Amino acid sequence: SSASTCTAGSGAAAEAVAPDPAVQVEADESVAADEPVAADEPAADDAPRADEAAEATEAGGPGAVDEGAGAPAAEEPAPRGPAAPGYDEAEREAVHRLMRDRRDIRNGFRPDPIPHEVLLRVLEAAHTAPSVGHSQPWDFVIIRSEETRTRVHELAQRQREVYAQSLPRARAKQFRELKIEAILDTPVNIVVTADPTRGGRHTLGRHTQPQMAPYSSALAVENLWLAARAEGLGVGWVSFFDERELVCSLDLPDHLEVVAYLCVGYVDEFPEEPELARAGWSKRRPLSWVVHEESYGRRALPGAEPHDLLAETLAEIRPLDARALGEAWERQKRMTKPAGALGALEILAAQLCGLSRTCPPPVPEPAAVAIFAGDHGVHARGVSPWPREVTAQMVQNFLAGGAVCNAFATQVGAEVCVVDVGVAADLPPGDGLLPRKVRPGTDDFTVGPAMTREEAVRALEVGIETARDLVSAGNRALLTGEMGIANTTVAAALTAVWTGADPAEVTGRGTGVDDAGHAHKVDVVRRALEFHRPDPTDPLGVVAAVGGLEHAALAGFILGGASLRVPVILDGVSAGAAALIARAIAPEAVSVCVAGHRSAEPGHMAALAALGLRPLVDLDLRLGEGTGALLALPVVQSAARALREVATFDAAGITDKN
Ligand SMILES: Cc1cc2nc3c(=O)[nH]c(=O)nc-3n(C[C@H](O)[C@H](O)[C@H](O)COP(=O)(O)O)c2cc1C
Repeated sequence: SSASTCTAGSGAAAEAVAPDPAVQVEADESVAADEPVAADEPAADDAPRADEAAEATEAGGPGAVDEGAGAPAAEEPAPRGPAAPGYDEAEREAVHRLMRDRRDIRNGFRPDPIPHEVLLRVLEAAHTAPSVGHSQPWDFVIIRSEETRTRVHELAQRQREVYAQSLPRARAKQFRELKIEAILDTPVNIVVTADPTRGGRHTLGRHTQPQMAPYSSALAVENLWLAARAEGLGVGWVSFFDERELVCSLDLPDHLEVVAYLCVGYVDEFPEEPELARAGWSKRRPLSWVVHEESYGRRALPGAEPHDLLAETLAEIRPLDARALGEAWERQKRMTKPAGALGALEILAAQLCGLSRTCPPPVPEPAAVAIFAGDHGVHARGVSPWPREVTAQMVQNFLAGGAVCNAFATQVGAEVCVVDVGVAADLPPGDGLLPRKVRPGTDDFTVGPAMTREEAVRALEVGIETARDLVSAGNRALLTGEMGIANTTVAAALTAVWTGADPAEVTGRGTGVDDAGHAHKVDVVRRALEFHRPDPTDPLGVVAAVGGLEHAALAGFILGGASLRVPVILDGVSAGAAALIARAIAPEAVSVCVAGHRSAEPGHMAALAALGLRPLVDLDLRLGEGTGALLALPVVQSAARALREVATFDAAGITDKN
């Protein structure tokens, strides 16, 4: 099925509820007959007072009258009174300040007891939360006993270990420094539950979405959290539990769900930033990324013009910072080593400074490799000895941890994330899989365009959003990976467009075609280019004509990395082709690229030469999946670490050559 398939219940059910037009008319009439004549007119008791109306008019509120409009015509309905007033500015600011100042607290709790009246106010706030069908499904279990807290603490410790084991090495190192609960440091713990049976079987709204019961309890938690902040009480939410284990350990009735386990107490301070952001674990996402006008993807803040993601990303791409670059070269001259002795690593270290605008730069870890997967219509031309299904099968292999990229990622401590941008099969949901299919494979570009321009843009956007997600999640290096049977044919076509090379020079053997197969592959690329005559100054046109969905997404990934100023380590020939696309869209984007390795595919060196990039690793790899980029990661990290940790001659008291 295609990416945009919607299923609204079964066909039979849809038929059963489809309205009969005749019945509809009758029903409408009966509703109209029952309605009061002037439903809009406020009843006498509700009529706004004159002073309220005047206030609203002055403030230009919804009740304000446009003076130029003149008196309403006699037959027009009487104007509505002013809308119900909001809070005055000071009160409004207090509410917003409370929401800004609320923090999840795990450090700096004090043992001071919480007075009963304070805790009561906090619980009353929680109890005024909205709830599905007004079912008020929450209960609050107050835990003070040290014995119970110790038992719960042990459960959390165990889950902490399980989670730590599941992390890539760089993440695990960061996680070790994080405190994730304050169960034993707080005088009061509060368990917030949801009772999914409360209100009986007809609870309004819950019949369609049973999860509305725990959602309602979560709203009670937010009320509690805000009220606690206003009292100067810190709250830390702990979710490191097997929920059933916790129910059992707390001897709760079996039908209850634990929604939250909260640690509550007075604190030394409320940090201004989330603790995870301060620790570099995550970053706050801007509001403009998440507000969509009318349809998903049409991003716009209220009152602003909708912006397109690609244009917004391009507007944020800036050159390397000249001051930080200068400082890097200056410092490298003073480091305790002969000038230039670190060769290409010195150029790389300076690039990292220019990107991060600091010298020395942060070590680019944690890192994540995004493997964009897609299929290709040109596979039908016999350009690969492998069946197309292998793309989907390899995706499953990546997710199961059985591929070379997984082994290398484990070795270098990176996260593997797989993005289905165009696999020609329905993939089951899986941990680590981002389902972002633009379409199930491209069309055969020897007989028509591979995709539409609009699809090319959507694939680019998938790459941009993946970069945003991985960087917001705290990654400081992005690695490109890709999977798509027949995608070296596509890479060859793209590379030929921007290098001007003959297809014979940039078309390789991919997953292993023989001489005859290779000659045929060259011919396929040549025919496609003759057919489309793609214009290199129209990058989206080129991608639509002879591109691949994963190549477009990789280009977006590079552009996204460039806009966020995070180094992007390129893998092989498909990444090289994608970097050519990115450069054609935004020349400055190349400044974030690091060529991870030199692929055995001939098109790769042609692309790197055109991009002016020097590969770090040269081991005749021709696998893809991000393997070359992963091998290069420690080299990139070493370049940054050298700048951070190597002493200077003056600091170490060592005499320089001169
Ligand atoms: C549903 C939920 C579960 C959470 N679980 C934990 C947790 O187990 N451990 C922890 O340290 N923080 C936990 N937090 C706190 C978040 O890490 C925190 O809200 C986030 O980092 C933003 O920080 P802020 O709340 O200070 O703005 C949880 C928050 C929520 C909403």
